Amino acid sequence: MCGIVGYTGNQSAAPLLLEGLKKLEYRGYDSAGIAVTEDHSIHISKVTGRIANLCEKTEDGRLTPGTTGIGHTRWATHGAPTEPNAHPHASNDGRFAVVHNGIIENYVELRQELTREGYRFESETDTEVIVHLVEMYYAGDFKKAVMKASNRLRGSYAMGIVCADEPERIFVVREASPLILGVGIGENYFASDVTAMVAYTRNVIYLEDGEFAELTPDFIRIYDCSGREISKPVSRITWDIQAAEKGGYEHFMLKEIMEQPRAAKATITPRIQGGEVVLEGLELDLTDIQKIMITACGSAYYAGCAGKYTIEKLCHLPVQTELASELRYSDPLVDEHTLLIVLSQSGETADTIAAMKECRSRGAKILAIVNVVGSTIAKLADCTLYTWAGPEIAVATTKGYTTQLLVLYLFALYVAKRRNTLEPGQYRRLIGELKGLPKLMQQALDMNPRIPRLAKKYHKAQSMFFIGRNTDYAVALEGALKMKEISYIHAESYAAGELKHGTIALIQEKQPVIALCCNPSVTDKTMSNIVEVKARGAEVLAVAERGNQKIVSLADDMIYVPKVDTLLAACVEIIPLQLLAYYVARENGCDIDKPKNLAKSVTVE
Ligand code: F6R
Repeated sequence: MCGIVGYTGNQSAAPLLLEGLKKLEYRGYDSAGIAVTEDHSIHISKVTGRIANLCEKTEDGRLTPGTTGIGHTRWATHGAPTEPNAHPHASNDGRFAVVHNGIIENYVELRQELTREGYRFESETDTEVIVHLVEMYYAGDFKKAVMKASNRLRGSYAMGIVCADEPERIFVVREASPLILGVGIGENYFASDVTAMVAYTRNVIYLEDGEFAELTPDFIRIYDCSGREISKPVSRITWDIQAAEKGGYEHFMLKEIMEQPRAAKATITPRIQGGEVVLEGLELDLTDIQKIMITACGSAYYAGCAGKYTIEKLCHLPVQTELASELRYSDPLVDEHTLLIVLSQSGETADTIAAMKECRSRGAKILAIVNVVGSTIAKLADCTLYTWAGPEIAVATTKGYTTQLLVLYLFALYVAKRRNTLEPGQYRRLIGELKGLPKLMQQALDMNPRIPRLAKKYHKAQSMFFIGRNTDYAVALEGALKMKEISYIHAESYAAGELKHGTIALIQEKQPVIALCCNPSVTDKTMSNIVEVKARGAEVLAVAERGNQKIVSLADDMIYVPKVDTLLAACVEIIPLQLLAYYVARENGCDIDKPKNLAKSVTVE
């Protein structure tokens, strides 16, 4: 995910910006750049690849003199990881430069408007519209131009802007993307993450959405969205630097679990326009598709298992899910009437690539749902829809999985509309529900403060069962995998109705059973299974919608989730299970971000 930094003071800016950018490297990026003002001009230096390349290009900053500047690490979203697409972006007159985190949702309209006005675009990015807007609105007042330009933007942004006419002044603006100001003596900083500046100052101010600030070496002024100056408290950072690199979280996994509402918003929002699902990149003729096959590995496969229910129900198309490592050897029945959907966070999983190639040789059309831009799977597919989750560092996927689900939901609605398999009222209702998912995911994070305590109760278990029916079963698969891979506790997911066909023999006194009861169409049946395991001594931790009194009276412990339409529920329901796995692993002292024997990107078959 992108990172931004800025400095204004009496020291040489470039070396400080480079150091700050190095601290943001953990977030993942594919290009970087800095802009430094000096003598009423702006020097910009950009590279693809590592910060080390930028250090080399600028001779550790010596070639870009000046005491005020901005810097950026870019993780490609709009446009490939190339030098022209790297930030900072400059205005046509060279007077302004901008760095930006986030996504400008209305950039297409703005780009058209600015092109009509005669502005020349040098990149494919959404960001570049910002700097041209500032130039367009500039009539000698930097602050006014920034305000006017910001008012035109929709989406999420944390940005820093410098102006050649006022070489010691930086404006920063925040909307739905983190932005922190660092307060120094005779110098001031900003960054998207305290990591980038905690080595220089521990006094920080957190900007809120809609606020913007003016930084010079001598002062920081903060304004509300109407331009009125406001005062904000200065907070003191007390974390050690290593913790700060994880944004204050103890582990990347917890940070990534917490990031899910934001990742969901980034994945969904640009794809719903005027009440319609818009899937830029889905350039496939779907009219003659007779079946869909979903293939992937591990959690990505489980996302496919959950998405299958939604696609079948909404699109009236048969959906088959196959593990990629099995599909490739199975002499698959696919042809030119099959759409193969491939799910992968890394885009580099060897088994998934091999299964894709096998199906392609039989004529299948291939849609990839991938997180890493420009990865092998994205390149091999006929078309790709990206999950805008940002880089995932913890080996166990969390936001990768939920954003894959979200893209499958978007896809299902998109296809249902084209196939006329959904009443317009239903379509509108589900679009509304989909837009509300980031909020519900946040609620799922907030409404279970007892999970760490439950982890203390269950962490000594030798094994756990995760049971559920229908969509709940699909979530049980992923819940059990999360538990296994990071806590090393054996966990088995089971279709609840199958217990009595064998597995119930293993239920004994105090055996933890995690029972998923979020799908109202099958809850009563799952409750019977709860009664069966309780009768054999099991300790039941039930996951259900808040207010489900019937289950409260049966279960030993409860985890709650907000009410969501069953067809879109998996991405919310999994969240407390991720937290449970995390806290159980923490109780057991496991190496959560790097579980033993596992790798983030599995490039061997
Ligand atoms: C589990 C996990 C793995 C991956 C699997 C596929 O937490 O992360 O099961 O889901 O290795 O990886 P990608 O999605 O990169 O193809």
